[in-house]
Amino acid sequence: MSQKTWGGRFAAPTDRLVEQFTESISFDQRLYPQDIRASQAHARMLASVGILTPAEAERIVAALGEIRADIEQGRMEYSTALEDIHTHIEAALIRRLGDLGRKLHTGRSRNDQVVTDVKLWVRDSIDELDGLLANLQRAFLSLADRERDVILPGYTHMQRAQPILAAHYCLAYVEKFQRDRERLIDCRKRVNVLSLGAAALAGTSLPIDRHFVAKELGFEGVARNSLDVSSDRDFAAEFVFCLSLIAIHLSSWAEEWILWTTTEFDTIELPDEFCTGSSIMPHKKNPDVLELTRGKTARVVGHLQHLLVLLKGLPMAYNRDLQEDKPAIFDAFDTVSRTVAVAAPLVAKAKFKRERIAERLENGFLDATSLMECLIANGVPMRTAHESVGGLVRECESKNCRLVDLPAERWETLLPGKASVVFRILGVQNAMKAFQSYGSTAPTQVDQQLAAWREMLKENSDQVA
Ligand code: ARG
Repeated sequence: MSQKTWGGRFAAPTDRLVEQFTESISFDQRLYPQDIRASQAHARMLASVGILTPAEAERIVAALGEIRADIEQGRMEYSTALEDIHTHIEAALIRRLGDLGRKLHTGRSRNDQVVTDVKLWVRDSIDELDGLLANLQRAFLSLADRERDVILPGYTHMQRAQPILAAHYCLAYVEKFQRDRERLIDCRKRVNVLSLGAAALAGTSLPIDRHFVAKELGFEGVARNSLDVSSDRDFAAEFVFCLSLIAIHLSSWAEEWILWTTTEFDTIELPDEFCTGSSIMPHKKNPDVLELTRGKTARVVGHLQHLLVLLKGLPMAYNRDLQEDKPAIFDAFDTVSRTVAVAAPLVAKAKFKRERIAERLENGFLDATSLMECLIANGVPMRTAHESVGGLVRECESKNCRLVDLPAERWETLLPGKASVVFRILGVQNAMKAFQSYGSTAPTQVDQQLAAWREMLKENSDQVA
């Protein structure tokens, strides 16, 4: 008899090249825990509806547990002749239980089995990544707490713009990773719908109980349309999109810190244990972790493209093309989760170069916008104030001085009789104190945000490296 689960219809054995071309065992092996879990739930359900006896179901459940142990101890022999993880496990079950093992696949197909396994895997991965992202947020929060008082130049167009508190900067990343977590949790809702029971595409004439299986596996809903669900990989594309956006957040952060470690910026010091050296230049301390964070984003975004293009031309319902979803999903997750895991301790141990930042803080007119707002607050129309301060900046540039160094007549011309108010605003320290709007870098606002985040991220806070 053929080893194949579908051998009955065929007179000739499969060509070896075809076996090698169509296999997925080389990459779907890692679905074994999910496959076994789903099969155990399926067997219990078959007993609950009387297709198996309770004793038969228990023998199947126990044998599947033994097969899991075999796989974990390296005792499973993999062969391309058996195609994928589902057939490997079923074949192992039949070797153990004979005809009883041949009953497990009743009322299901690999088409609904594989998507169930992948959903279980994605669900676990989302939960794992949520924990990793929370740790990364805690790392940014600890950096924010440690460097709360450092004032950084904030940039737009990579030009010095306005002063910001280092804590405000760090919390901007906490917010981004919070949205990433929320997106994953939202994606999880669509992942957490049972596909099993769609069978090949149309459902089954056997009296299966899909709600029983959903409950066993912790799915919150049962997919309503068998045709839709056996062809659905939206959840996979959505998951990899969520991963792509995390990767992009990490990548632009990495790019920023790579710049900040340069002699030109001289703004941040990375921990030695997260940097690498040069084999020829003895002085080098390279930010390779950050560069690879940026570089690996290309793979993740590539995987999103891979999935979208994979799906674009597929007619209803299952097509073998769908087997190609897994390498993209797995590698996107592995890449992002490893990146988040290494980013957290790097962030937690990084230090702003306070003195170097402070020495250059008065360069670049970081107080110009606050000066303009001071004029506005004292009755000057906004456009007039903008133009006047623009002119003063031009004057400073020609004299190579700061706004605060300009002669007193300038302020008297701008604000007759109340020129002294500008000295409460000029200089970066003063400009910083002037902020007050909700969500701004105003120290009181930032302190409120810090307190709120400390509370939100409190759980398991010992996990931060
Ligand atoms: N290895 C396949 C996959 O990953 C399982 C489904 C195969 N189904 C089929 N009808 N040939 O998609």
